[in-house]
Amino acid sequence: MTTLLDTLNRNFAIKDKLHFVEGSGGLIIAEVTTQHGNASIALQGAHVMTFTPAGEQPVIWLSDFAKFGRGKSIRGGVPVCWPWFGPHVSDPKLPGHGYARTVDWRLIQVQSLSDDRIRLEFELEESTATRAQWPHHTPVRNIITVGRALEVELATTNACDTPITIGDALHTYFKVGDVRRITIHGLEGCDYLDKVDGGKRKQQSGAITIGQEVDRIYLNTGSNCEIRDPSLQRRIKISSSGSHSTVVWNPWIEKANKMGDFGPDGYLGMLCVETANAAEDVVSLAPGQVHRLVTRYEVAPL
Ligand code: BG6
Repeated sequence: MTTLLDTLNRNFAIKDKLHFVEGSGGLIIAEVTTQHGNASIALQGAHVMTFTPAGEQPVIWLSDFAKFGRGKSIRGGVPVCWPWFGPHVSDPKLPGHGYARTVDWRLIQVQSLSDDRIRLEFELEESTATRAQWPHHTPVRNIITVGRALEVELATTNACDTPITIGDALHTYFKVGDVRRITIHGLEGCDYLDKVDGGKRKQQSGAITIGQEVDRIYLNTGSNCEIRDPSLQRRIKISSSGSHSTVVWNPWIEKANKMGDFGPDGYLGMLCVETANAAEDVVSLAPGQVHRLVTRYEVAPL
């Protein structure tokens, strides 16, 4: 019997650069190796799980206690939040952050670029279950390019004949040496909604530091920010387009303990900085319009 794994390896594998394996919980994983860096991507969720530039520490955090399985979201990596961010606006029974991260995506194209980067293009598979949650025809692709930098582009097309509003986020978990020592730059002066203070609107003054639970939607943000990490002696440079919000999240001790997939000190080694369109920054798409949410991560010495 030919399995999906066989088919993927037959149609898309590139010798020494790309192959497909069955990972924990039966998930199918694309393993990408280039001279510039390595990555692994689960087909479920088109979810980047790891990314490590050559000679560097991993850039992306994946919990040692992550649970892997059909229909489960993975704690770490780059979850895709789509077609809404956070709780659904009117139906609390629908999953937080949408369903894109827990359903199958189809690999539709692989390109080996001339500078040895590898690009994979996935499309979300619509089904009766997805249509029950989102009765709109808005095909979405996740295009992931692995090289010295990691680039992720989430492209949504409104194929309906009425305008559609979506929220989205590339909910990236970054690995940091010690979250208590990092600073985040590039959001100074921005307004944010403070989810740990009843959603109050506040204004950021100076760089962001983390010393307690932080859960904020920064609004109307620019296209560059960076994490400075003195413990790992590096900066993670984040550049984006098609994004109006930046979400900064660390659950801290109590919330991480309740979540059950962080492990005892997991929260100290991670930080989410999410390239997003959330809250009042949701995107309205005219019929036929394409919206591209793009983010790019690169490391540099501090
Ligand atoms: C963040 C939200 O984006 O994701 C937080 O702002 C939320 O409120 C976090 O707790 C994790 O969400 P989940 O659904 O992956 O546990």
